[in-house]
Amino acid sequence: MKDLTTKKILFVICGGVSAYKSLETIRLFKKNNAEIKTILTKSAKEFVTPLSIASLSQGKVYDDLFNVENETEMDHIALSRWADVIVVAPATANTISKLSQGSSEDLASTVILASNKQVFLAPAMNVRMWEHPSTKDNLKNLKSFGYKFIGPVTGDMACGEYGEGKMSDPYDIFNEISIFLSSQFKNKKIKALVTAGPTNEYIDPVRFITNKSSGKQGYEIAKSLSRRGFNTTLISGPTSLKIDEDIKLIKVETAEEMFKATQKNLPTDIAVFSAAVADYKINKKSKDKIKKQENLNINLEQNIDILNYVSNHNSMRPKLVIGFAAETSDLDKNAISKLRNKNCDWIVANDVSKKNIGFESNYNEVTIHYKNTPNKKEKLSLKKKSEISEEIVDRIVNQIN
Ligand code: PMT
Repeated sequence: MKDLTTKKILFVICGGVSAYKSLETIRLFKKNNAEIKTILTKSAKEFVTPLSIASLSQGKVYDDLFNVENETEMDHIALSRWADVIVVAPATANTISKLSQGSSEDLASTVILASNKQVFLAPAMNVRMWEHPSTKDNLKNLKSFGYKFIGPVTGDMACGEYGEGKMSDPYDIFNEISIFLSSQFKNKKIKALVTAGPTNEYIDPVRFITNKSSGKQGYEIAKSLSRRGFNTTLISGPTSLKIDEDIKLIKVETAEEMFKATQKNLPTDIAVFSAAVADYKINKKSKDKIKKQENLNINLEQNIDILNYVSNHNSMRPKLVIGFAAETSDLDKNAISKLRNKNCDWIVANDVSKKNIGFESNYNEVTIHYKNTPNKKEKLSLKKKSEISEEIVDRIVNQIN
């Protein structure tokens, strides 16, 4: 539950199959006490009715006809000034194109053009439309105007195709906007460092030892921190993930590189170590590709423990050091012993033997243990990694304050 009392949200609903999801999005905002007004584009009315929106939002619903008939009550400048934030969901390819051109041919585009508020767009369209170079150009344009995007996500589409272009879940839209609205750390003076993803430890120039970390959990933590206003640096092992532009991303491959990048980015106020760093590296990496042979022995030696180093680096120890523990048995016991041995303030334990959480999955379930309150443990039940991250960052915000 987020308290959005006094927050004013102007919704713009465009004409697309996912317009029905806006009803749920509006319901979430209303449940959290936000004040809502809505603009329906002409084609949006083919998918949702003004009456259903008005009933759910308990606020006014505007359309182009209303504008023509009653310009004084529906002054587009006043409406854009009224809002704390404008949310366009779904944002169709057509509306994205109009906004990119600075068009003012209907009420929605006119209000947005006249606005001095943060505009969020939740795109929804067919994968080919999303991937089309003209849409990409429009996105670049809108980003350069400072508009922010939520999604789209990848999945099955209403048209029967599969790919990127689906509108984000109502909860994710609600979450992103409410974080923006209640963000307390706008000044970006508090530094946060996050490690994420796997490391590759090379045997020869083309082969390496790695693990199944996708980086998802760490990237979500970095995103949550950045959205709350923390000045965030993400040190990432090899992943295919993308990250928001306002996060400083440092890409590394080996544990040694991750260590050096971490050292370079100290001091920091907060450090979260979610990377699955290889405990071992190859003792003597072969210069050339190793030829096929009957038996091959590889000697391993320990990598430096980055978390341990930072936790015990007295002069530059962050105010808050958070480790992760990836366990396959005795979750609590092993996590608590890592909390002690690595001298971190909190440890976030997850059971990586379960297929639906931990490595690669979009979901996780974690238990947090605290150094200063050894009897306290908090379980965050199964949910999306983005939600787990939000809950961890909620705790970070409380601790830092
Ligand atoms: O990336 P995803 O697919 O989203 O999966 C998420 C995750 C399972 C990788 C993540 O939730 C997680 O558990 N990360 C920690 C993985 C890990 O390596 O745990 P560990 O128990 O081996 O290490 C304990 C802590 O020491 C971790 O904070 C780790 O980052 C740190 N460490 C370990 C070894 C080392 N050489 N340097 C370190 O800093």
